[in-house]
Amino acid sequence: MSHLAAAPAPSVRVRAPGKINLTLRVGPVADDGYHPLVTVFQAVALHEEITATEVPEGAGISLTVEGPQADRVPLDSSNLAWQAVEAIARHVGLDPSVALHIAKGVPVAGGMAGGSADAAATLLACDALWGTALPREELAGLAATLGSDVPFALLGHTAVGTGRGHLLTPAMTRGEFHWAFATRDDGLSTPAVYRRFDELTGPTAPSVDDADDNGLMQALRAGDPTALGEALQNDLEAAALDLRPELARTLQIARDGGALGVMVSGSGPTVAALARSRQHALALAATWTAEDAADAVWCTTAPAPGARVL
Ligand code: C5P
Repeated sequence: MSHLAAAPAPSVRVRAPGKINLTLRVGPVADDGYHPLVTVFQAVALHEEITATEVPEGAGISLTVEGPQADRVPLDSSNLAWQAVEAIARHVGLDPSVALHIAKGVPVAGGMAGGSADAAATLLACDALWGTALPREELAGLAATLGSDVPFALLGHTAVGTGRGHLLTPAMTRGEFHWAFATRDDGLSTPAVYRRFDELTGPTAPSVDDADDNGLMQALRAGDPTALGEALQNDLEAAALDLRPELARTLQIARDGGALGVMVSGSGPTVAALARSRQHALALAATWTAEDAADAVWCTTAPAPGARVL
């Protein structure tokens, strides 16, 4: 007896990293509702992995998700990966039909840009699957229409972000940094954190044009974790703490544990602690768990590469 197995549908796998903002300086809200930023992004070795599989024309978009906190990810057009398919299909004039599967490795709604990583990975996956071979600059342009953090997820490593955070200049770094993260199941909404920032700073928040980098770029070039720890700063931290006062204890526990620097990551509620070593990162994470100061803990290194086809 013989039978012919149908060839599996072509598919492409892409990995994209989460990020932290080593510094996040925020200026007064502009007329378009966005805040001018000066930020230093660093990609971390926590990844989203997207598989895009060809489906018949007209079948539309389907989305499945696995991994920690997968139940908190929307499976409809409110998902940034779904919007990425529509954006690139429109751009290249093709039918927006594809089956997407997301394996999550970045905390959900934690200020670490997991959703942005999904969008960046989806752009790259559709481009490869459909054979459209768009130049990176064109993908970056599409990425910026999806969200302020999406271009960085394409680029990865370390970069200075200006504008809404979408204008990127790669930055030199040396060596590897060790991080521990404390996440909460109950995420914070980015717009809500920016609104509270506006309420706390008033209409006269200082401009970011001459924000001091506190020695951050020098610390990165030198690969000096102690200097990096001292240079970390996040202008959204006060707003995130105001919305989630319990984060203050999470920050303090890491300081008491000898972290080189501790901050809220992006718009929170994730707390990031810079450690001396992998062992130290594991110890900080274990203390958070023992003190019940996090719903989940994560340890990883940075920097990490941007979105790439596997
Ligand atoms: O660009 P993205 O869609 O990720 O932004 C989400 C929200 O975060 C915006 O609608 C805005 O309220 C806020 N935001 C901001 N200034 C930025 C980036 C984001 O106010 N530079």
